[in-house]
Amino acid sequence: MTDWLLDGEPELATDRIQGNVLAGFFTDYQLFVGLRIADAGRARRWLADLAGEITTVDDVLGHRLLARAGEETREPSGVWLNIGVACSALAAVGAPSAFDDVAFREGLARRFRILGDPPSDPAGWPAGGPGEHRLDVLLILAGPPAALPARADELVASARAGGLEESYREPGSTVPGRGIEHFGFRDGVSQPGVLGTVGGAPDRPITRRSIPDERAVPHAGPGKPLVWPGEFVFGYPGQGNLPRRGGPVSRAGDNDETTAFALDGSLLVFRRLRQDVGAFRRFLATGTEDLRRQGLDGMTPERLAALIVGRWPSGAPVTRSPDQDDPDLGADRDRSNDFDFGDDVHGDRCPLAAHIRKVNPRAGPSDVSVPLQKRLLRRGIPYGPFVSENPSEDVDRGLLFLSYQCSIADQFEFLSTDWMNSPRRPAGSGGHDLVVGFEGAEGRRRDFDLPRPGGGPPFRVSTTEEWVLAEGGEYLFAPSTAALASLA
Ligand code: HEM
Repeated sequence: MTDWLLDGEPELATDRIQGNVLAGFFTDYQLFVGLRIADAGRARRWLADLAGEITTVDDVLGHRLLARAGEETREPSGVWLNIGVACSALAAVGAPSAFDDVAFREGLARRFRILGDPPSDPAGWPAGGPGEHRLDVLLILAGPPAALPARADELVASARAGGLEESYREPGSTVPGRGIEHFGFRDGVSQPGVLGTVGGAPDRPITRRSIPDERAVPHAGPGKPLVWPGEFVFGYPGQGNLPRRGGPVSRAGDNDETTAFALDGSLLVFRRLRQDVGAFRRFLATGTEDLRRQGLDGMTPERLAALIVGRWPSGAPVTRSPDQDDPDLGADRDRSNDFDFGDDVHGDRCPLAAHIRKVNPRAGPSDVSVPLQKRLLRRGIPYGPFVSENPSEDVDRGLLFLSYQCSIADQFEFLSTDWMNSPRRPAGSGGHDLVVGFEGAEGRRRDFDLPRPGGGPPFRVSTTEEWVLAEGGEYLFAPSTAALASLA
């Protein structure tokens, strides 16, 4: 490690920021509990009382230090707890809620059509929406699987006494896949590094740095550019240490009360994304045939899947290993991120519409000047049985997608609507993001292009099928423990 600091790197209030935001829980088992407010006055007090139970960044980092020293297991022995509150729920309990972010203000049930989700009635969503599964509050529990339900029961009992009712409960687990999502690919390989130091330890950067500070954009490690914390947590400088969103530090709203309440908090996107593994595999088979018919030799379903993701199942990027998977490369956290698309501007090695290229153009072509302002802190976890446990196609399985950012409209929604669902952005052409498989802003048909060696019209596969089915969720605010306590 070569820990250096940039000028002006802020000290982060890691004793108040929720642990999943900046440290990430990344446990094998999690349990999500939704609550609906029945009595706003009592709910406000219950939320304030919960402040002392929230797991902070310091708690998670402290555990990791002990685990590294061999004094703790990798997984926490107790249950970690984090919380998100919807904007309408903040307003209902009389908390400051004048956030600038239009997406957060409106909530997912009023925004899902913008995202290109298939038509659905939010009242019937299994998570979120205005019906019985409304998510005024989302609790995120992480820890040993045997301890999670009992802790959830305890919290629900106290919530009931505090004017809230349980509206949703769902476990997430990475076992037995351990980091592999249901389509069979390693997930969570690439995350932005966050600038700033750990509170109370001004010499200790929150993201350890393994390479020297020599690049125009400072990097924590290969393929891991450092992003200013104001992109993810309110109250800190945004990307480039530049004024952003109305001030030198990121603000939540024009109103000072909301901005003060939002300090050290973050906006949380929660989406229940059901994955139809059978539909994805059928598309890979027909797509492969189609490409062969167009004269593309050597295509296989495995290769097509890797081109659609931009990585092989092991996590090895197709840019670095174009012809086949390379498990050693995939297992190497540094090497598997040590690439960009600057020398592959036409997508000859990694297609322009590959998932990882759509959502993170790295140094390749892009229609925005600062793509690092579009990064997310992803904290999702699979739900439902893995194919290896239950091969049936009718099983409800998928991804509980979570991301933290300071602007849902400019970050999460921008990636979904402006890049993934657009056939021409960010790189000018190339088709749609076929991993996520939403219907796209321009109609149900989605195209995916592979350049033809020597030029000419690209090889193209098209589909109107969907294998990721959005089934609700909510846009929430993850307050600091101080903000929660201020509701007393
Ligand atoms: C069920 C749906 C999804 C699946 C199966 C999926 C799968 C994957 C996989 C396999 C990777 C590569 C591993 C990695 O780089 O960490 C990845 C990366 C990524 N995904 Fe997704 N994803 C899904 C939905 C989404 C959504 C909805 C978004 C955001 C709107 C998103 C944003 C990202 C980002 C930002 C990366 C990192 C790219 C990079 O930095 O190189 N994903 N995803």
